Amino acid sequence: MPADEIERYYDRNTDLFLRIGASSGAHALHRGLWGPGVRNGRQAADYVHGLIANEIRAALPSPPRKILDLGCGVGGTLFHLAEAFPNARLIGLTLSGRQIELARGLAREKGLAGRCEFVQGDFEQVELDTRADAIVAIESYTHATHPEHFLETCDRHLADDGRVFIADDFLARDIPASDREGLDLVDRFRTGWNLPALGTLGAFDALATHAGFERAATRDLSDLIRTGRPRDRLVGWAATAARRLGLGRQPFWANVIGGDALNRALRTGRIRYCLLSCSRST
Ligand SMILES: C[S@@+](CC[C@H](N)C(=O)[O-])C[C@H]1O[C@@H](n2cnc3c(N)ncnc32)[C@H](O)[C@@H]1O
Repeated sequence: MPADEIERYYDRNTDLFLRIGASSGAHALHRGLWGPGVRNGRQAADYVHGLIANEIRAALPSPPRKILDLGCGVGGTLFHLAEAFPNARLIGLTLSGRQIELARGLAREKGLAGRCEFVQGDFEQVELDTRADAIVAIESYTHATHPEHFLETCDRHLADDGRVFIADDFLARDIPASDREGLDLVDRFRTGWNLPALGTLGAFDALATHAGFERAATRDLSDLIRTGRPRDRLVGWAATAARRLGLGRQPFWANVIGGDALNRALRTGRIRYCLLSCSRST
């Protein structure tokens, strides 16, 4: 899907996604992770932020001065990292003008407008004239039409000893032609959520190597995602009904159908949700 269509998709649906998501207060457009001690949707949405902050502390020689979020949504990740790293400046990039408007408003409300900047642009071609110590991308990498361009952007915008942190879905393995159900689930997820770059970790590694990166660490977080809640069953019924009624082209229903396919693919181990930490190749 071209960038202008993804832009329209998020311009039209961000308010809805924030309303129906269970992450109230975390300002997140990503899935919750129910790690140890997590009690509610907000903590679940913030859990990945805590993991990334810890990974940044462990990987960098000193606290980051600049953090760049490629595909920043409405800024939830940067607001969390701004608290974790009080001396850092933070830049968020998103295609969606509506997200920029919401993110800037939230930054003002939180007194973070002086440190958090939000820029509208395409992470496949942006030139920001800055180098960050940490680049983060939560559930945005898989939207890339040309993931190699996303990685080239990381290369141009990362300090020499910086790190790239990507939290996203990956195929556990290439789905064989004999696995009709698997092919169908992956196709529904990829189409419904607009994810051309959804692929295996092996495919990611090949692109990363080409762009001068290597995967330094990988955490499989799939088991922390809840896929059997009453709301997931409701989504399952709604998705089945929407498919029967041929509603898959409408963004809301495409999202429901894609979300149900994702849940099924996670439950059956065909998709894994991973946090990658990438450094420049040695
Ligand atoms: C699922 S949302 C995740 C948002 C945010 N990372 C979060 O976790 O709340 C995907 C984000 O990626 C952004 N995105 C997708 N393709 C992009 C591109 N080519 N350039 C910039 N942002 C993009 C969308 O605008 C949206 O903000």
